[in-house]
Amino acid sequence: MIFIIFLLFLANLYKANAENCNFFEGSWVFDISYPMYNSTVCPFIEKEFNCLNNGRPDQIYLKYRWQPQGCKLEEFDGRDFLQRFKGKSILFAGDSLTRDQYLSLACLLYTSVPGTNYNMTRVGLISTLIFLDYGVTLILDKNVFLVDLVPEKIGVVLKLDSVAQRSKLWLDHDMLVFNTWHWWTYKGAQQPWKYIQIGKRLLKDMDRMVAFELALDTWAKWVDTNVDPDKTIVFFQGVSPSHYNGSEWDEPYVKNCAGQTQPLLGSIYPGSLPPALAVQKKILSKMSVAVKLLDITALSQLRIDAHPSFYGVGGATGPDCTHWCIAGLPDTWNQFLYNLIL
Ligand SMILES: *[C@@H]1O[C@H](CO)[C@@H](O)[C@H](O)[C@H]1NC(C)=O
Ligand SMILES: *[C@@H]1O[C@H](CO)[C@@H](O)[C@H](O)[C@H]1NC(C)=O
Ligand SMILES: *[C@@H]1O[C@H](CO)[C@@H](O)[C@H](O)[C@H]1NC(C)=O
Repeated sequence: MIFIIFLLFLANLYKANAENCNFFEGSWVFDISYPMYNSTVCPFIEKEFNCLNNGRPDQIYLKYRWQPQGCKLEEFDGRDFLQRFKGKSILFAGDSLTRDQYLSLACLLYTSVPGTNYNMTRVGLISTLIFLDYGVTLILDKNVFLVDLVPEKIGVVLKLDSVAQRSKLWLDHDMLVFNTWHWWTYKGAQQPWKYIQIGKRLLKDMDRMVAFELALDTWAKWVDTNVDPDKTIVFFQGVSPSHYNGSEWDEPYVKNCAGQTQPLLGSIYPGSLPPALAVQKKILSKMSVAVKLLDITALSQLRIDAHPSFYGVGGATGPDCTHWCIAGLPDTWNQFLYNLIL
């Protein structure tokens, strides 16, 4: 009798553990069945992310599966996903790391029903992919700051307290996936604005982390006011890490991600988490709509091997250690997305 009670106790302990399990804590394990799909069969991958097609010679980086500590992730089931979103639409808004995840999702879905009919169109900054046999629509709004970037007489103005320009596009979807961070750090020629505007004040520049927080707060207010959480699931992508300094992962003589062919094993990245992640978490915690954070930063930090490096658009500008190869890491980000809607 006592033995049976003990067994029940253990079973409950296990169940509680699985329920409380944090998907985002774990490690990368070698899995011969990976990648999740054959990227040469996916028609959507842009050159920037198409590492195999660009001649990347090593392929071990494709063979790592994320293993959470103490629970199991369901495999991404593209057919099931298409059924669940039949007649529905999903919008991604953000920078090129959002495009990375968007195209990965497009490939995960397409390769689950290869040869299925689709219509991909791109008008300006907006891409639309429709899986015609399912009526599933995937929209990408390339929108690097989320808040407005407006060309005016004085020059381009970044308006920290307005999302009016593009937010109409965000209405009436069944799932929204937002992201912004990387462009907030850009200076000099890469910086696309001349002034920052807060209310009526125009500034030449300001603390970028403060600007980022003000902008996220504007975005959060829009979501809280305009999104019906009973109809729409909202995700935030989190901070995708770059690898331009080997000191961060205790290899001081390694300049960047070029030539890295395997992830860091174990679950601890020697470098620290980017402060922008704490800002995102702070803003999300204050919202009335429960936005699910894809907390991909730490687990992606371990993937020093998964960037395009010289097998993206690369070349003159040096290796790309910011984006990620497709197939590859963004497939796991979408696996989290899938597990969080099950
Ligand atoms: C991927 O698909 C291509 C084209 O159909 C094929 O030649 C190749 O063998 C496939 N690769 C794998 C690993 O299945
Ligand atoms: C694809 O979408 C475009 C733009 O909406 C439209 O003009 C075209 O007719 C569509 N093609 C198909 C096959 O549905
Ligand atoms: C790399 O990181 C180390 C440790 O954080 C730092 O001391 C060093 O200046 C960095 N190197 C570059 C080139 O940024």
